[in-house]
Amino acid sequence: MNSTPRTTPNRYDPLTRLLHWGMFFLLLAVCALVELHEIFPKGSSGRTAMMALHMSLGVIALIMVLPRLGWRVVQALRGALPDESAMPGWQRLASKAMYLAFYLLLLALPVSGYLGVALDARSVDVFGLFTLPPIGAGDHNLAHDLKEVHETLANVFIALVGLHFAAALWHHFGLRDDVLLRMK
Ligand code: HEM
Ligand code: HEM
Repeated sequence: MNSTPRTTPNRYDPLTRLLHWGMFFLLLAVCALVELHEIFPKGSSGRTAMMALHMSLGVIALIMVLPRLGWRVVQALRGALPDESAMPGWQRLASKAMYLAFYLLLLALPVSGYLGVALDARSVDVFGLFTLPPIGAGDHNLAHDLKEVHETLANVFIALVGLHFAAALWHHFGLRDDVLLRMK
């Protein structure tokens, strides 16, 4: 019987941790900016600037999620994700469903945000680096629908992040397992 203690920590690799926490702060800023824009009066330059930052950082989030998703697939294929064999099956399933939902939302959120603006015949300038073009001559009703979709997805996303955060704390302080430390 091999009784040698495991010397490698059961953690995500540094790149996964960097992308996870980097995107956490980026998405925190994206959501804070859209809330902050509300405190400025309609038509003011402050309100426009907050929304411009929301949109630019939202597009950056879309650009960042692609290598993040790619890297997760690579790590899964290499069998390099943390060992979950000690976890009950329902927890493994619940976390997989949560991560799938996160990745789908992280793609659908910026795309729906962009469509809501572009279908209104407006372009999206990303930090003066490049511009995403308007789509067609403008369909205000469709643009409005897409904006509603974007806002609903954003609210679902925020609720799931709350659940994810609560689950991480429950694992750490309730179950006292290594789940939170995997992402530390
Ligand atoms: C992952 C990226 C994104 C996240 C997490 C996000 C999140 C949010 C949130 C939380 C809201 C407020 C929802 C509400 O009022 O109930 C919002 C609104 C909005 N977002 Fe995004 N967003 C993202 C990307 C984008 C992008 C890329 C664009 C456009 C290029 C965009 C355009 C908008 C617009 C136009 C609104 C409506 C603001 C208003 O008039 O009140 N978003 N977004
Ligand atoms: C914008 C907010 C967040 C998003 C979108 C998010 C997304 C994810 C995703 C997709 C994973 C799977 C690993 C990966 O593919 O990177 C993950 C793992 C993890 N996250 Fe988050 N996360 C967020 C915020 C947080 C916060 C605030 C905590 C606080 C404690 C946290 C703790 C963890 C932990 C401990 C894991 C590893 C769990 C496991 O091994 O199954 N996350 N997160």
